Amino acid sequence: MNSRLDLLQPYPFARLNTLLANSQPNPDLEVITLSIGEPKHPAPTVALEALQGALNEVQKYPATSGKFGLKQAITDWTNQRFELSENSLSADSNVLPVNGTREALFAIAQTLTDPNKKNGTVGMPNPFYQIYEGAALLAGKTPVYFNSLTSKNMQPDWRQISDAEWQQMELLYICSPGNPSGTYIELEDMCYLIEQSDLHDFVIVSDECYSELYLDDSQKAPSILQACSKLGRTCFSRCIAFHSLSKRSNLPGLRSGFAAGDAKLLKDFLLYRTYHGSAMPGFVQVASEQAWKDENHAGINRELYRAKYKAILPKLTDHFEFTAPEAAFYLWLDTPIDDQEFTRRLFEEQSVKVVPGSLLARDTETGNPGQNRIRIALVAPIDECIEAIDRLISFTSSLVTNA
Ligand SMILES: Cc1ncc(COP(=O)(O)O)c(C=O)c1O
Repeated sequence: MNSRLDLLQPYPFARLNTLLANSQPNPDLEVITLSIGEPKHPAPTVALEALQGALNEVQKYPATSGKFGLKQAITDWTNQRFELSENSLSADSNVLPVNGTREALFAIAQTLTDPNKKNGTVGMPNPFYQIYEGAALLAGKTPVYFNSLTSKNMQPDWRQISDAEWQQMELLYICSPGNPSGTYIELEDMCYLIEQSDLHDFVIVSDECYSELYLDDSQKAPSILQACSKLGRTCFSRCIAFHSLSKRSNLPGLRSGFAAGDAKLLKDFLLYRTYHGSAMPGFVQVASEQAWKDENHAGINRELYRAKYKAILPKLTDHFEFTAPEAAFYLWLDTPIDDQEFTRRLFEEQSVKVVPGSLLARDTETGNPGQNRIRIALVAPIDECIEAIDRLISFTSSLVTNA
């Protein structure tokens, strides 16, 4: 057996189930689940119709590199969305379809870290999407956690990372908009990271799967590809952005996303994927092409999340400390008591299920940045989200009153 499997940590949802194993929800209240970030808004008809019309694709082996039509649609979308007109991506060499970003974020670490490098590390924010850590561990690398800080808009302070730390790093995962914070890494900070990657020769893997759920049209989420362009680069060296249809288009079951950026690295990634057998099924490619070509449904989806935030944020401000999200569908709130106890009691007293922050982050020398926080995913219908927030506020007020 691969002994590195023993290093993997239980997934946060498994730990949440253990935490709630002996708890019952309040029998007088319907359970509202805001723990899992699975989109629930309707999937776009254009993609569903294309999927149905392409079922004969099951009779062909798909190419791992992807159909040209899909790659062109991805390229056009990315060039337009991130204003890459002068330093634009090419459909031939700068993009690769992937079966959802999860598998690709995992696979990229297996491709781009060197088994012969001793003491190599993989950097990541803390809290983080747990795939980054598992990918690092199974690649035989040491994960290094950079705590997200309130003072840095809930992103790590990248300028505190020492030269020695950068030097050991082979790959850096960044997540913007962040899960769980929904906040951005500023373009300027992305440029700083690119400069460090040049100096110390590591790869930046930029997880941008929430980029299309921005709350303000005048403040769209930036991309690492834009930062490359800002620095006047034509080749996107050492940078790969990951995007997904799961959140933008409410198609989490389609398993469709893409990687875009450095052509040389993507060539290596394609080779790895060919052996791993990670070709995207043809009918998924056809449906995905239509989804990337259609911006209308993505705008409607954004409006649905905006309506939730508009109804909920003003209710929360008097009761919780939090950094306002800029995108995505999460709330990352401070809790007045231990986050795990808060989560358990909220479930028992108010039948609302959330994730304790400490399960989404690791302990570090300066503490666990998820401690005394919870993550709420606003994926349920708006009425349920509002009801859940009212119950959350009532529960929190009871804690304060009884303190
Ligand atoms: C930060 C982050 N990255 C990546 C993913 C994976 O998304 P998918 O594989 O559906 O593209 C998720 C899913 O929740 C996520 O939260």
